[in-house]
Formats: sequence, structure tokens, C-alpha cells
Amino acid sequence: MIRILFVCLGNICRSPMAEAILRDLVKKRDLTEKISVDSAGIGHWHAGEQPHEGTRKMLDRKQISYEGLLARQIHKNDWDDFNYIIAMDDQNIKDLKKVNEVENGPVIAKLMDYVEKPLEGNVPDPYFTGDFDYTYELVSEGCKELLKFIRQNDNI
Ligand code: 4NP
Repeated sequence: MIRILFVCLGNICRSPMAEAILRDLVKKRDLTEKISVDSAGIGHWHAGEQPHEGTRKMLDRKQISYEGLLARQIHKNDWDDFNYIIAMDDQNIKDLKKVNEVENGPVIAKLMDYVEKPLEGNVPDPYFTGDFDYTYELVSEGCKELLKFIRQNDNI
């Protein structure tokens, strides 16, 4: 099983959006036995909450389920439990290094690293920009490319 953890600051806007989108792709491609997807936030402020209304509305429009998704804070143990920890921006990467740093641990990368010519290197935070459509565009493209990469890299 390849385990993927998406990370953003609050775990209510971008990373749950990525989790829902990738889960949907994994399900549609019949890969649920081979790939699992989770998400977590750097901060603890929204722990236990469902995704932000903007993310829910966006996913509703795209008919992508976010059933059961509840925010949680990232934990040191996540380095043992996941193969890929995929962040949304450079600040997330810096913050992740403060939570844990191990040798031969999971791949730590940004979602946009998997897109050949990304519109942005960082996924802008719609909690502050209010633009959930643009975030969806970037995250959706990133998830497709990440899945493509993992299928080749991990022989799935
Ligand atoms: P996210 O957006 O990192 O995409 O979930 C945020 C949500 C909440 C906060 C910051 C960013 N906040 O400061 O509460």
C-alpha cells in the first residue's frame, strides 16, 4: 500500500480538497487496495472540523465526495505511516521540517512539483484569497500528475 498525506496550514481548505480529489481518482481507477489518501494541517486550530464551506461548495459542484473528512494536526508519527507527504506551499515545507526530519523517511514535496509547467509553485491559500475555483484548478491538475508519477514510480 502506498500512503499519501496531503498537508496545508489549517487542513480545512487546500489539503482536504486534494484528499477528496485524489481519493475520487483512486476510486474511479479501482486502486483503493493500493493507494490510501489522508490529509493534515500544520496548525491545530481547526482540528475536528469538516472542510471549509468554500472547499465543500467546490467539491459539491464537481460531485466529489468529502464524506467523513475532518481536520487534524500533523504528528511526528506521520513520518512512519506515510510514503509521501505532499505540501501545498514553501511555508508548509519549512514547518514540516520543524515537526520532524528523518533519514530515509517519506518523500516530502510540494504538489506543484509534480506538474511540468505549473501556473504557480505554491497553491495559493483560498482561506485568504477567497478564490476556491483557482485553487481547485491547481489542486486537481496536481493530483492527476501526482497519481501518474506514483503509478510509474511505485509500479502500480
Ligand atoms: P488551508 O487554509 O491551509 O488551505 O486549510 C487555512 C485555513 C485556516 C487558517 C489558515 C489557512 N487559519 O489561520 O485558521
